[in-house]
Amino acid sequence: MVQVLICPTTVTLMLLLSTLPVTLTGNNTLKCSTGKIPVSAGDDVILQCRLEPPISAESIRIEWTRPDLLPCIKGSVHTHEDGRFLYEEQIPSYNNRSSLFVDQLINGNVSLKVSRVTPSDTGKYRCYLPSINQEAVIELSVGHDGFVPPDSFMEHKPVEAVVGSDVILPCVSTFNINVNDHILEWNKDDEEIYTVQDRRGSTQVDDYKDRTSVSIEEFKKNNVSLKLSGVKETDKGDYCCCIKLGRDNIKCTKVTLDVTKERKQHEDKQQTKTEADSIGSLVGIVAVCLVAALVGFVLWKYRRCDRRRTDKPNMDWNLSTNVKRAQLLNLDV
Ligand SMILES: *[C@@H]1O[C@H](CO)[C@@H](O)[C@H](O)[C@H]1NC(C)=O
Ligand SMILES: *[C@@H]1O[C@H](CO)[C@@H](O)[C@H](O)[C@H]1NC(C)=O
Ligand SMILES: *[C@@H]1O[C@H](CO)[C@@H](O)[C@H](O)[C@H]1NC(C)=O
Ligand SMILES: *[C@@H]1O[C@H](CO)[C@@H](O)[C@H](O)[C@H]1NC(C)=O
Repeated sequence: MVQVLICPTTVTLMLLLSTLPVTLTGNNTLKCSTGKIPVSAGDDVILQCRLEPPISAESIRIEWTRPDLLPCIKGSVHTHEDGRFLYEEQIPSYNNRSSLFVDQLINGNVSLKVSRVTPSDTGKYRCYLPSINQEAVIELSVGHDGFVPPDSFMEHKPVEAVVGSDVILPCVSTFNINVNDHILEWNKDDEEIYTVQDRRGSTQVDDYKDRTSVSIEEFKKNNVSLKLSGVKETDKGDYCCCIKLGRDNIKCTKVTLDVTKERKQHEDKQQTKTEADSIGSLVGIVAVCLVAALVGFVLWKYRRCDRRRTDKPNMDWNLSTNVKRAQLLNLDV
């Protein structure tokens, strides 16, 4: 380790600077390294971030969090406020592994050092400074000997269900899980609604008793999807599917469930809308036809009348001649 020698004048200067009132203008921006940072398991890594132009970040709140773990894993990777590290806010898996360069905060260096990284450290890291409303995200990728692990869980869309139906909340891991060694936890709103340990499933919350299950056969294939029966409106929300691989190694993914009262309510609305539309256009067509027919009739009638008027003498003549002819033939007309 490099011995850091600080001369008294620097100390006085630093003390002087730190006692100066910090004026935070809207002009200070947070500049962080961009792109995915690849690192090997076991190494230490520095997630680089600094304020520009440099101002002291000693007394402001500095939050380093993992947004991709929320709401499943709460807490921060490292939070610093009023010159101290808030240990109580830290995610346990980062205990004793995170640090800021405290002596560099005065220069606006808010970089985070994470020591002895593990593959589960892979993900997004957000640096947020609430007082100046600045944030930035850095991606870290931890692999063994340069191997970069894929995402921990298969991608899925939010799930939709109708009240009273059964639904599968998908959770399939891309890493190997072992039904004998690993613990599965399904949580909702911080409550354990279903757990599987030593091949045995159990429910902690009454509301989910007899309504939740995970297939052990599927579990062996890394599929720990939760079957939820008799869906209620209150089942709506975010669920966390967590797999405990070890004491401080937990992997979670979020599954969002949306509950509707009636089947395909949205589609029905769409259908009635298109029906209404077609009725509307049908009415329109009929109206156009009626108008056309009316116009045609009027024209025809008008022409007929017109013709009649011109034909009248002829007809009269015809009639009279006919009458005459009839009279000649002595017939009753
Ligand atoms: C921000 O910087 C610009 C020049 O770059 C300056 O004109 C402005 O006054 C600054 N704003 C504040 C709030 O200090
Ligand atoms: C912050 O300080 C540390 C320790 O001196 C240094 O390694 C790092 O490069 C600095 N980062 C920035 C962004 O200045
Ligand atoms: C962190 O370090 C403290 C003191 O050195 C120790 O008591 C604690 O058990 C450590 N925590 C972890 C998670 O290693
Ligand atoms: C996972 O298991 C559930 C039943 O628990 C099944 O419905 C689903 O299709 C399975 N998913 C995959 C990807 O095998």
